[in-house]
Amino acid sequence: MEVPFNLIEYLENLLKAEAKKTESFTEEGFTPDVKIAESHFGDFQANGVLGYAKKLKKNPKELGIQLLERVQQTPLFHEKMLQVELSGPGFLNFKQTPLFLCEWLKRYHDQLALKRAASSFYAGEKISIDYSSPNTAKQMHVGHMRSMIIGEAIQRLLSFCGAKMVRDNHIGDWGTQFGILIMAIKYFNYDLDATHEDALEDLEMLYKKGNELFESDPTYQEIARNELVKLQQEDSQNFALWQKISTVSYSAFQEIYDLVGTQFDVVLGESFYRDKVDRVYKELLETGVAQESQGALVVFHPNPNPAEKPYPMIIRKKDGASNYAATDLATVLFHTEVTGVNQMVYVTDGRQQDHFKYLFMTVDKWFKGKGYSEPKFRHAWFGTILGEDGKAIKTRKGTPIKLKELLNEAVERAYRIVENKNPTLPQDYKQKVAKVVGIGAIKYADLVQNRTSDYVFSWDKILSFEGNTAPYLLYAIARIHSIFRKAGVHIEFSNIHPSLFETPEEIALAKKIMLFAIVLFQTLEDLRPHFLCTYLYELAGSFSTFYNLNRVIVEDTSVRDRRLLLCKSTLEILETGLHLLGLETLQEM
Ligand code: ARG
Repeated sequence: MEVPFNLIEYLENLLKAEAKKTESFTEEGFTPDVKIAESHFGDFQANGVLGYAKKLKKNPKELGIQLLERVQQTPLFHEKMLQVELSGPGFLNFKQTPLFLCEWLKRYHDQLALKRAASSFYAGEKISIDYSSPNTAKQMHVGHMRSMIIGEAIQRLLSFCGAKMVRDNHIGDWGTQFGILIMAIKYFNYDLDATHEDALEDLEMLYKKGNELFESDPTYQEIARNELVKLQQEDSQNFALWQKISTVSYSAFQEIYDLVGTQFDVVLGESFYRDKVDRVYKELLETGVAQESQGALVVFHPNPNPAEKPYPMIIRKKDGASNYAATDLATVLFHTEVTGVNQMVYVTDGRQQDHFKYLFMTVDKWFKGKGYSEPKFRHAWFGTILGEDGKAIKTRKGTPIKLKELLNEAVERAYRIVENKNPTLPQDYKQKVAKVVGIGAIKYADLVQNRTSDYVFSWDKILSFEGNTAPYLLYAIARIHSIFRKAGVHIEFSNIHPSLFETPEEIALAKKIMLFAIVLFQTLEDLRPHFLCTYLYELAGSFSTFYNLNRVIVEDTSVRDRRLLLCKSTLEILETGLHLLGLETLQEM
């Protein structure tokens, strides 16, 4: 009998199937509702019998017993891998035996086996994920960090669980601001071809100055508008300038992506859709989803409060220009038709919740009207990073913190810590550790928070070796590596003959380990990486307790093997977990 990877999923399916064969359950509407048990009665609990019995006005205990008797005849229960009991008014309590735990670990103790098992979850799904997505002609600052970090983690998790991913960097590279910028470039004679140390900073400055001109005098408004029209008509000079702006911006972004290890499959900026919005307008008019209103093209969505006016989503401005919404609509069409995705995930700031809500509603009406098949949408939005004063994080001068500087500072600070802790490590290895710890600390601090909350950024906290931090987990991993190094044994884990787990710490650790499958799926259900972070931290804690109280390298090889199996499984899950979150790991630090 094969040991199931995700025991909750297994028990749910089993209970449903067995219930179908039981006369008292033939009515529709039975959901087993299996959860991790909080009590000492068992590891998992099915609560569904109770509600079902109530609905049918039957005795829940009787129904529970009937189901229990059937379940006991199934192989895993028959083979004493799992146990079930009826408790309370009609709960089913499930317990894993040491045999089950041992078989689970033997089967799923390395990354390959974990991935193979997990990949059934999203098999057959093709998912686009829109993350990072900064705007050109501006440097990335701290505000751009969360989309990149959370998006990277989500895409790795989905991919691990079997989805085909299309990682899309939807760069903001088109819009009215380029009229002003091009005007300023010309006015101040800025040479985009010359090499500038920080060209992106220059462009930011030029835009500011251009904007001052724009606001100061209608003549400049006219000039900027003309420059924009020329750009939109792809006038050769303006188009070339715009292209250079993109090139300069992309190469600055790439520096950051290289540093944090983010990659994309496609980089389709807003400009890519400039010739694709006409079809959107046409189809939205055809299907009656959009209407002309005061010269603009608008989709009206019902207001949740019916007494108030419907919410207007403008998709073409009065002057005929396309906007953010139009581009996003064209993007949906592109990804469903051309890249062939059936799900789309967006990772942005929480302030864009309304935008995406109305976007998804518009697509729903439009695609239904045209008979297109609709993708499943998910908006994984996030809160703000705060400074220690509780306000959006800023430099002392009150300007946004540049992302590049923040990342560099993390590596520098981590270097000082490594130097302090382990001065004898070779210089270049120290540098490597500093990078893994520094960048890892920034990423982990972001992921460990529920993404929808704001959080306070504190160097001391994120770089601490105590608490749920990257340094703590990286250190836990290095420690297990050193156990293997010191043991000096090479173990072929597919060939060991462990005895069954016995001590309370062994059993507690094994139970924690097998929860990985369940946590992975819960994390993806909600696209909330912090579930995985919490789990990894608890796993490292269970390991610590186990390791403090159980000697691993003992004479009895059957005991040694089962303990090494626990070490190995913990190590693989900690490493796999951190890699899924986008962190690198180390064997020694
Ligand atoms: N460029 C936008 C910004 O900086 C984010 C784009 C998000 N993606 C999208 N498809 N709208 O706010």
